[in-house]
Amino acid sequence: MRNILVLHGPNLNLLGTREPEVYGHHTLDDIHQVLATLAESQGATIQHFQSNHEGALIDAIHEARAWADGILMNPGALTHTSYALRDAIAGVALPTVEVHLSNIQARESFRHHSVIAPVCLGQIGGFGWRSYVLGLQALLDHLAQTK
Ligand code: DQA
Repeated sequence: MRNILVLHGPNLNLLGTREPEVYGHHTLDDIHQVLATLAESQGATIQHFQSNHEGALIDAIHEARAWADGILMNPGALTHTSYALRDAIAGVALPTVEVHLSNIQARESFRHHSVIAPVCLGQIGGFGWRSYVLGLQALLDHLAQTK
């Protein structure tokens, strides 16, 4: 049984109403339902956590060492700035997939760079809520291969 932490950074609690032309109409609850169904179909579980606070996200990453096999993370704007979040991922050494709803390469230049991506297995973005589905599948496939 694989256990996955699904982590969301700042402002993602507003999904569904936040700039829907960019991020779509799905809420976090909608996304969690889809992810839980996918995980269950493959003998895995997810636990999710969203915070607008960098330190709370870092604490969740540290705590994941005790129970999680991998992390699926949308760091929000912290993607572009947070060396502390990057160090947390590197520090716990759990396989991590970075996801974005939007295609960050196609947006403002400050979004083009991720300081988190170099410590992740990979990055998936641009497919709306489906980015999470693709990211979870990639993570579960990776874990199945590395058992
Ligand atoms: C985002 C992209 C980030 O640049 C932005 O700050 C977000 C959401 C995405 O999912 O597309 O909050 O991570």
